[in-house]
Amino acid sequence: MTRPKIISLVNNKGGVGKTTTAINLAYSLTLDIFGNNNVLLIDADAQHNASIGLNFPRKKITEMDNNNDGFYKILMDKLPIATGIFGTDFKGLDIVPGSKSLKNISQRIAGEFDQNFRLKKVIEKSKEKGHLDKYNYIIIDCSPALSVLEYNALMVSDYVIVPIKTAEYAYDGIEIVIDAINEVKEQNKNLEFLGIVFTQVVLIQNLLEEYKKDYIEVGAEDMLFDTFINSAKDAEMAVKNRKPIYEYKKNSKVAQKYLDFTEEMLTKINKREGRE
Ligand SMILES: Nc1ncnc2c1ncn2[C@@H]1O[C@H](COP(=O)(O)OP(=O)(O)O)[C@@H](O)[C@H]1O
Ligand SMILES: [Mg+2]
Repeated sequence: MTRPKIISLVNNKGGVGKTTTAINLAYSLTLDIFGNNNVLLIDADAQHNASIGLNFPRKKITEMDNNNDGFYKILMDKLPIATGIFGTDFKGLDIVPGSKSLKNISQRIAGEFDQNFRLKKVIEKSKEKGHLDKYNYIIIDCSPALSVLEYNALMVSDYVIVPIKTAEYAYDGIEIVIDAINEVKEQNKNLEFLGIVFTQVVLIQNLLEEYKKDYIEVGAEDMLFDTFINSAKDAEMAVKNRKPIYEYKKNSKVAQKYLDFTEEMLTKINKREGRE
């Protein structure tokens, strides 16, 4: 199996926990309990919340924007992705930061013959040179859209996970995301949908069961991760402190939930790759 495995977090809605899941999944994978993986997080969102959440200096992001540099330039000029990689405060975790100029990428490359394959191309350029060999996983945090950048992420991914803020919408709302994934699968044969993870779950009465009912009704309960992420102030505070939750409050319930989620994800991947 060629390293690294690429996993995208996708949902066309915002505020559903994509970035929080990207940060905490990427970080969790670097921990001893999961084998001290080397992980690269690609912040493919113009809002660059993942970069800020991992304490990447705002000043450097502004510089990138002013100079039309960074990930945007990499995609525009088809430069090797490795030219945009930076270290983080967290051992084993590197980042390709996002910046505001990414919002222009869709219109800039729309209509080009390779518009959906830019990210694949720039990743392959570095892979060929062995510059990504150290990474076990690449996690891609996407924008709240199903546009050119998200298609680029799906085209190069082995796996995709869809986070959903439970309280907000039911199965019907994510059919559009599932449809997009299925559409990409016709071209990217490697792509596997790992499932939906409920985030920001408020546990009152049997609300979680209520949310699940919708999925059971349409026969989609297999899509759901067993692990759900509870709603917790600690998750927000970690972002404000620009750290993964585990680094902010190791023993918090939500930090533990992200460990459980990571473990479940790895089990799913191992099953699919026939390594039960
Ligand atoms: N488990 C959680 N509990 C409480 N707040 C959360 C949780 N996960 C995320 N949030 C907060 O919800 C907001 C949206 O989350 P985020 O991960 O940025 O979503 P997205 O990337 O899908 O837009 C952020 O302010 C984040 O801090
Ligand atoms: Mg986000």
